[in-house]
Amino acid sequence: MTRIAPVPARVAIAGATGYAGQELVKLLARHPAVTLTDAMSSGATSAPRPLPALKRIWDGTVVPLDIDRLAAGSDVVMLALPEAAAAEIGTALIQRGLRVIDLSGAFRIRSDADRQRWYPATTALPDGVVYALPERHPDAIRGARLASCPGCYPTAALLALEPLAAAGLMEGSVVIDAKSGISGAGKAPSDRTHFCENHGSVAAYGIFSHRHAAEIEQELGTTVTFVPHLVPLDRGILETVYVSLKRGTTEAQVAAALQAAYASAPFVRLTGGDLPEIKHVAYTNFCDIGWKVDESRSRLVLVVVLDNLLKGAASQGVQNLNLMLGLDETTGLR
Ligand SMILES: NC(=O)c1ccc[n+]([C@@H]2O[C@H](COP(=O)([O-])OP(=O)(O)OC[C@H]3O[C@@H](n4cnc5c(N)ncnc54)[C@H](OP(=O)(O)O)[C@@H]3O)[C@@H](O)[C@H]2O)c1
Repeated sequence: MTRIAPVPARVAIAGATGYAGQELVKLLARHPAVTLTDAMSSGATSAPRPLPALKRIWDGTVVPLDIDRLAAGSDVVMLALPEAAAAEIGTALIQRGLRVIDLSGAFRIRSDADRQRWYPATTALPDGVVYALPERHPDAIRGARLASCPGCYPTAALLALEPLAAAGLMEGSVVIDAKSGISGAGKAPSDRTHFCENHGSVAAYGIFSHRHAAEIEQELGTTVTFVPHLVPLDRGILETVYVSLKRGTTEAQVAAALQAAYASAPFVRLTGGDLPEIKHVAYTNFCDIGWKVDESRSRLVLVVVLDNLLKGAASQGVQNLNLMLGLDETTGLR
């Protein structure tokens, strides 16, 4: 039986010492309808510790992961963990009646075969999991036991493409050329994310082998060519999306499909022919979408930007939390 969360809701964070987790701490500490009950790090490596960057924003102490403590002290748990840990902990928490919001990929893929390939730690999807892109599935998210937040790259791609697919305007190939700041890879440095490797450089990676392509294809119902790049920024994503349109599609039809989809969406800003930039959305929950249409040759190019740590992770998670608590989705996010 899933507990009904009263307001203020008792919300805890697991993975609070990571890049996305620290953003969650900042957002929940000032959220008017939430009591931040616990912020936890990994169990294996950590002792209790402060988060110096958050002093006077949240003066609590991070404690090591403790599932019993989460289950006893909170109504909702937000997971900002590596996916194997999220698969185990998320499943255990909903079995104990809590509601969960997961930022990892552990619960995003519905096909058993595809999940086995991309997220093998999740052997089965529990009941009540919802793919939680708030602009597209708000009613399902309101009733979710576990809101599985989309990946950062898929959030941008799907917000731009889903309304066009739903309106039947697309035909043939879709190419998503994506660029991400380095925080997208999390806090543990690697050869690829080392400052000396990426400063002054741009590198493509994961061509035909990135799990976010599977997620985008699942939601869109069509094959995409997805090419991510690492760029020497700390945060932010920009995707340039190349679409073949059905013959005869007009610029006005493209604009109408996007405007109809987002007429009442507080965090999607349509910029039309004024193409958006990462700096316009950094440190916010906005996703900005601009576009150009070549009517004579049925081509469309969209440019989509968001902050990977916020709209691509933590603040999108809080937007989902608001829906699950029956609040206005902008609560604590303006
Ligand atoms: N970064 C992004 O832009 C982004 C965007 C969308 C989604 N996500 C997803 O969000 C999740 C968190 O990403 P992140 O970039 O914030 O990661 P991160 O910076 O690497 O932080 C990982 C967090 O998980 C904790 N942790 C690590 N292993 C653990 C374990 N076995 N058990 C319990 N806790 C453990 C770490 O604690 P310690 O400090 O004790 O090690 C830390 O708090 C990932 O699944 C990622 O795919 C990230």
